[in-house]
Amino acid sequence: MIDAKTKLYGLIGKPVEHSLSPVIHNALFKKCSINAVYLAFEVDDLDSAVKGIRGLKISGLNVTMPYKEQILEFLDELSEEARAIGSVNTIVNRGGKLIGYNTDGIGALKALKRFTEVENKNILVLGAGGAGKAIAYTLSRLAKVVVLNRTERKAKELEKFGVKGEKLGKENLKYYLSWADIVINATSLGMNEDKTPIPKKLLRKNLVVFDIVYFPLETKLLREAREVGCLTVDGLWMLIYQGAESFRLWTGVKPDVEFMRKVALEALKSERQSI
Ligand code: ATR
Repeated sequence: MIDAKTKLYGLIGKPVEHSLSPVIHNALFKKCSINAVYLAFEVDDLDSAVKGIRGLKISGLNVTMPYKEQILEFLDELSEEARAIGSVNTIVNRGGKLIGYNTDGIGALKALKRFTEVENKNILVLGAGGAGKAIAYTLSRLAKVVVLNRTERKAKELEKFGVKGEKLGKENLKYYLSWADIVINATSLGMNEDKTPIPKKLLRKNLVVFDIVYFPLETKLLREAREVGCLTVDGLWMLIYQGAESFRLWTGVKPDVEFMRKVALEALKSERQSI
């Protein structure tokens, strides 16, 4: 029940109306008997939104596009990852101090680790946007990472993490796919469309294929990877593990990821019906 002690959490971004996070976090609060609610806020003016967080003492927030980078200058402290990546997806309000974290990288790592070993593997990341950057940073601590990106400059910028960054092209895609144990699609290619960043003929059975896109749940890339016999990991696992890390940062509780997945799958199904 919502009462005078209910704590407020939420998501800021634009657009936010299709986000699964409110459904997942509210289900978790209920399951864990935590007196809190989670709402999605569509934000036009970040400056006034942050004043609102402070003024209303909102307990914690997720940050999504297009504010993950812009939010940094408004925060009081940053975690080591958030500072290195230059992007924040989670804010914790600790006694009035707004602390920024980034759980995208750890979310991707935990999603992968659920299915396969990651340490010392050869990992090819496609995409050097917000998600690609976080993933490259986190995985570079424990594996060999190559990033290919359509815009070369963004791939090169990631070399400060000790990864190799190149412009995405036909030849190097083929080359690094034969080198890789794991390939991760961190581009938005395949979201709401039947397109893939990797031609099917370049896939082989012993490759682990992880797509961070979760709508559709089985992207063209994952479908073709499954047909070839690859181990596949879908983007909903990444969403769940990054959300689980945010929840832990806010509440100190490590949530049940199976339960989160069940709730998210039900929400995805009804979302699909409503589109
Ligand atoms: P996110 O926060 O989800 O990572 P983003 O920061 O907008 O979103 O990044 C999108 C990524 O998808 C980028 O790496 C982008 O490549 P560019 O840096 O060249 O823009 C990549 N991307 C989007 N559409 C693509 C396409 N058609 N082909 C290849 N890469 C694409």
